[in-house]
Amino acid sequence: MKNKIETMDDIKLLVDTFYEKVGADKILGPIFNDIAHVNWDNHLPVMYKFWASTLLGEMGYKGNPMDAHFKLNEKQKLLDTDFNIWKQLFIETVDELFEGEIADTAKRRAVSIADLMFFKIQNYEQSAGINIGKIRK
Ligand code: HEM
Repeated sequence: MKNKIETMDDIKLLVDTFYEKVGADKILGPIFNDIAHVNWDNHLPVMYKFWASTLLGEMGYKGNPMDAHFKLNEKQKLLDTDFNIWKQLFIETVDELFEGEIADTAKRRAVSIADLMFFKIQNYEQSAGINIGKIRK
């Protein structure tokens, strides 16, 4: 039987295992390492806090996830295929390691945040386009 997601150590295992897969992925790996130049020693603890607050109700994450991805999208356009790989790897990681209600919530939240993020990125691009249009008039 697999474990439930209950403690900070569970969150760390989930996040570490997920980003190992992300780093090794031939599409996502270069986005994190070569485009965003992610400092993993900083990024992983931020993600522990993000998922601990999302899944365990622990305080500690302060940040703006949307903003980070708008900025990234300006460096390299993020595609729906990128988000599909992200979602697939996240679900795969949860299923490999955990089961139970919080594991199900983790998968549902990850998918809905990813979908919302992609939607907002597209919308943001569109409204940026409209603004530029107005300025040029
Ligand atoms: C194709 C999909 C995605 C890519 C390529 C991506 C990439 C990145 C990168 C490069 C950063 C900045 C890391 C740094 O410089 O330290 C970041 C931050 C972050 N990402 Fe993503 N991400 C993706 C999807 C998601 C999704 C779906 C979520 C949430 C479910 C998420 C949550 C976060 C959070 C919470 C941060 C930290 C923001 C902060 O600084 O507070 N990401 N991501």
